[in-house]
Amino acid sequence: MPIHFRAARLLDADVDLRWADGVVAVGPAGTIPPAPGDERVEGGLLTPPFAEPHVHLDAALLGARAPNRSGTLREGIANWARLRGDLTAEDVTARATETLAMYRSWGVLRVRTHVDTGSAVAVEALLALRDRTPGMQVVAFPQEGILRAPGRREAWESAVRAGCDAVGAIPHFERTTEEGWASVRLAFALARELGLRVDLHCDETDDPGSRNLEVVCAETAAGGVPHVLAGHCTAMHSYPDPYAAKVCELVASSGVQVVANPLDNVVLQGRYDGYPKRRGITRVDQLWAAGAIVGVGHDSVMDPWYRLGTANLLDAAYMLVHVGHLTGEAEMKRVVRTLHTENHRPWGDVPEVAVGARALLHWPAADEVELLRVRPRPRVLEAGQA
Ligand code: FE2
Repeated sequence: MPIHFRAARLLDADVDLRWADGVVAVGPAGTIPPAPGDERVEGGLLTPPFAEPHVHLDAALLGARAPNRSGTLREGIANWARLRGDLTAEDVTARATETLAMYRSWGVLRVRTHVDTGSAVAVEALLALRDRTPGMQVVAFPQEGILRAPGRREAWESAVRAGCDAVGAIPHFERTTEEGWASVRLAFALARELGLRVDLHCDETDDPGSRNLEVVCAETAAGGVPHVLAGHCTAMHSYPDPYAAKVCELVASSGVQVVANPLDNVVLQGRYDGYPKRRGITRVDQLWAAGAIVGVGHDSVMDPWYRLGTANLLDAAYMLVHVGHLTGEAEMKRVVRTLHTENHRPWGDVPEVAVGARALLHWPAADEVELLRVRPRPRVLEAGQA
C-alpha cells in the first residue's frame, strides 16, 4: 500500500514524502498531499538505508561456542583458530544468513564482510552467499598474515582469485616492519592485476611504531585501485601528534577511507596498559579536520572477539561519539549521517532520499540525536518488496 509521510524529519528539514514502491514525491512539509488510500504516517525521521563496511560474518554468532575468558584479542584469535578447523559450509552459511537478517532488521541493506582466507570452506560459502545476496561484498582477509608462515600467501591469493571483491591484508601482524610493508605492496599489486578494491586491517595495535597506514596512502596515491579502505588504524591513537598530523593529511590527500570499529577496539586495545588505559580508537576528529573520508563499522556480531555485537550500526555510532569525544550536536549528527553516506563508499555510490529512491528507512525518532540516544528499529521500505 502506498504511504504518505507527513512532516517527517529529513536531514535539517521537515518534509512530506510519498512512497509507492519507491519514493514518488518529496517536498517541504505541507506541500505534498496524500492520495486516497494512502497509509498515513505522521512525523519521525527519514534516512536512506545504512551500510556496514566492516564485519566478519564467518565468525559471527560463534562467541558462545568458545567463550573468551580473558576478553582479549589474543584469546579471541586463539579461540577462532580452534573453531575455524571445524567449520562446515552449512554452518557458515546459516550463521551469515542469520546475521544478515539481523542487519536488515536494523536498516542495514549493504554489508561488506571479511572472510578468513585460512578457511577455504568459509571462503567458498561466503562467496556463494554473496552471489545470491544483493549489496554483499567479500574481502579476502588473511587473519594470520600473508608472509608469517609457509602456505598463507598461497591461500590468500587463491581466495582473492576465487572471486572476492576486495584484497585484504593485516600488515601489523606480519613478523617485521619490512614484511608488513611488503604485505601491503603485495595486496595492492594483486588488486591492480585483478581490478579489485583493497581493504586492510591496518595498524590495529596500540604500538605507536606501527606505521603501515603511510604505506597504504602512498600505494593508493600511486593509483590503479578503485577504492582503498583502511580498517581500525588504532595505532594512530598513540602516534606522536606531529606524526599523526602528517598521516591524517596523507589519508585525506590519497583518498583512503578509514573505518573506525569502536565497539571492538575500545575493549581490545589498551590491554597492555596500566592506568590510565588508552581508548585505542583512531583519531576521527582529526581525520575529519584534515578532510579525510571516515566510516563506522560494527566489526563483530557475537564472535570470539566481541560477544556484545547486535548488528545495529547505531550501537557502533553510539560508542564512537562517547570514546571519540564527538558529543557536540553537529558531531553527533555527522556520525549518524556517516552510516548512510561514507559507509556506502565501498560500493561506489551514496543513496539519497529523493524521487526515484528504491529504499528508505523511517525511524521512530524526532531527529538524529534522539536516534543515537534510543537506537530503535526502523521501518524498512524497499521497492519490489511486499
Ligand atoms: Fe575486523
